Amino acid sequence: MISHTHLQQTDPDVAALIAEEDERQRSGLELIPSENHTSPAVLEALATTFSDKYAEGYPGRRYYTGNIVADKLETLVQERAKKLFGVPYANVQPYSGSPANLAVYSALCEPHDPIMGLNLLDGGHLTHGWKFSMTSKFWTSHPYHLKTDGSFDFDEIRALANEHKPKLIWCGGTAVPRAIPFARFAEIAEEVGAYLVADISHIAGLIVGGQHESPAPYAHVITTTTHKTLRGPRGALIMVTEKGLAKNPELGSKIDKAIIPGLQGGPHLNTIAAIGVALHEAELPTFSDYAARIVQNAKTLADALLKRGFTLISGGTDNHLLLLDLTPTGIGRGKFFHLALERIGLYANMNTVPGDTSSPFYPSGLRIGTPAATTRGMGANEMEMIADWIARVAEHIKNEQLPSDKEQRTAAINKFAQTLAADPFYETLRKEVEDMCVKFLIPALAENNTQFA
Ligand SMILES: Cc1ncc(COP(=O)(O)O)c(C=O)c1O
Repeated sequence: MISHTHLQQTDPDVAALIAEEDERQRSGLELIPSENHTSPAVLEALATTFSDKYAEGYPGRRYYTGNIVADKLETLVQERAKKLFGVPYANVQPYSGSPANLAVYSALCEPHDPIMGLNLLDGGHLTHGWKFSMTSKFWTSHPYHLKTDGSFDFDEIRALANEHKPKLIWCGGTAVPRAIPFARFAEIAEEVGAYLVADISHIAGLIVGGQHESPAPYAHVITTTTHKTLRGPRGALIMVTEKGLAKNPELGSKIDKAIIPGLQGGPHLNTIAAIGVALHEAELPTFSDYAARIVQNAKTLADALLKRGFTLISGGTDNHLLLLDLTPTGIGRGKFFHLALERIGLYANMNTVPGDTSSPFYPSGLRIGTPAATTRGMGANEMEMIADWIARVAEHIKNEQLPSDKEQRTAAINKFAQTLAADPFYETLRKEVEDMCVKFLIPALAENNTQFA
């Protein structure tokens, strides 16, 4: 348990909010697949004097003085990233996943060059060229799609690549429940001379834990956030593979320059320290066991939901997430569902499904993930209980439908949200969820951290 003694004395308001958030997390369950609970060691590294130091530049070439220790730290973390992911180059400075991806564009492309990525509505990320992201304003985006069964449409990807000759093709996504076939993307990228960039933000922990194939032999560049399955602080890495350096030996220095002076100023050294701790933890044999349990829990949860009559995109999962397709009960119902689950302390998120005819604000799916539950030590029994709560909520809200008149939608959702507080059905489930959750400690909140790897 990390002490907040000074905080409580100096700023009781913020201290109280932190305590409130601790309690929200402890008594409920984070099922959002991009979230996790870090170790106490990772959190401790964040709250250190490295937070106070400016270190613009790179080890051995800083703009300011006083960076002898910062140089040692950044070099150590770079080496850990290179070893863990099996790559010859790593930049550990990106503030988060979105700036990391922007830096890759600016290193590899000229403004308005054609690029391809998975359409947001099919599970791609905003930064992979979504029409409202600046990535499609500065570069010319030709999105590809998933088939309605959740598999990649490689005929479409090949046809688009041959037509538009993209400079860069992204593979990876935010809501893809199946393995990413990197080799097939690499074939197409090679055919058209594009850079293949694998964004493994969601699955990085599964890759280093041996549960998902590595993109290192296939992609030229790899980006990842560090705070999802990898279980580190909020941050990101950009890596260049042997294949990337063979295509362009300048790639590493282009990426370094794209980060600074291109996009960022001083790196967050405290985050880099915490990334280093997370990479060290991910090297331990216990982490492979953790990654295997994440996938096992996701499969168990998928089976339990299928048994209860739900429809899942692709019929199941290969990784840490599932995508519930709610369209059999109506279009655009995801928001009702995630609000009702929030009321009982289960935090999943509304999500579009491939071919969704609704909008991202009122999508027809629900995305559920197991990384945080697995960190807390939950297993098959708890997955059955979660499926049961989800099924009971689904039955309870089965008559809630999104109005087809767009003007009426906000009012309908607001009215529904108001009913949640007063309805005793939710209070009963809330109590059941809390009783289960408090038995599974969050590592940084536990008095005794022995359950943590
Ligand atoms: C695949 C993918 N790439 C990039 C990002 C962006 O990361 P951040 O939110 O840290 O900017 C995310 C975040 O969810 C993601 O899922």
